[in-house]
Amino acid sequence: MLDKIESAEKGFSAEIAEVKDDEALEAVRIKYLGRKGLFTELFEEFKQLPKEEKPKYGQMLNKAKSSAQKKFDEVKIQLASSESEIQEYIDLSLPGRKIELGSTHILTQTLNEIKQIFKGLGFSIYEGPELESDHNNFEMLNFPADHPARDMQDTFFINDKFLLRTHTSPVQVRLMESKEPPLRAIMPGKVYRNEALSAKSYCLFHQVEGLYVDEDVTFAELKGTLVAFAKQFFGDDVKYRFRPSFFPFTEPSAEVDIWWEQKGKPGKWLEIMGCGMVDPNVFENVGIDNEKYVGYAFGMGVERIAMLKYGVGDIRVFFDNDKRFLQQF
Ligand code: DAH
Repeated sequence: MLDKIESAEKGFSAEIAEVKDDEALEAVRIKYLGRKGLFTELFEEFKQLPKEEKPKYGQMLNKAKSSAQKKFDEVKIQLASSESEIQEYIDLSLPGRKIELGSTHILTQTLNEIKQIFKGLGFSIYEGPELESDHNNFEMLNFPADHPARDMQDTFFINDKFLLRTHTSPVQVRLMESKEPPLRAIMPGKVYRNEALSAKSYCLFHQVEGLYVDEDVTFAELKGTLVAFAKQFFGDDVKYRFRPSFFPFTEPSAEVDIWWEQKGKPGKWLEIMGCGMVDPNVFENVGIDNEKYVGYAFGMGVERIAMLKYGVGDIRVFFDNDKRFLQQF
């Protein structure tokens, strides 16, 4: 019995000293410490010993097995920590990861260009909130509650008083209520409409509103300003037309169309903005003397004019975040 215990101890020490990985460790465990391992066998044999020999060998056997178990645990911990060392090893000679630089979105570029042109024409920039009151979005702009023109815009209502603005025109109201004429500003921003999504319309888009209020503003000046804008934005040879139209907050009103031609397709007129002379009722609503002051206003669709300028056929691509589209600009 003594020999057997000693040889198991030796064998175990020799084999565990050679262990380099988890697999080898597991093999040693099964061979010596497992349910059918050598130490278990020795305990079985021990049971057969005569009573008077039991205390002596029992002690030896227990000691041998528990020191083997202790050694086994140590090696196991060693292996685990050297593995995590490997994982944390940083190879400083590896080339760095390339950081991709973003670029300005085509709509932001277009907005910046519009702002730049109007700044050059003497307009300042004013902004209002996207969550707007029904009062500013409709009522102050001469759309009474039951006016059929409200149907022109499918609205996302928040409750019966508030909504997501359907146009940037309520910012005119805010500007006229907060500052005294003369006023000359553009008001860029996002607007929302509850419309079926298609190549032509999206639930979200951008507009740039414009307003000029002074004592002697004329429709001719409105035309001159918008033509100057169109020429700077699209080029001197841009083909445009002013077409009579209706808006509750301007009288008279017009829409501006730009001629669009794509290679191999018949050309067509595309509407890019509405405009007109500020309706005297609007001046009255905001408390501006409509005997003394006149004004013009306009509102253009930013996606529309970007589509025209860059030949984009579907409004939805501006919002898809597809790098293949965005990287072209
Ligand atoms: N708010 C109008 C729309 O969203 C556009 C517009 C038309 C704005 C005429 C104006 C204007 O300021 O005078 O369709």
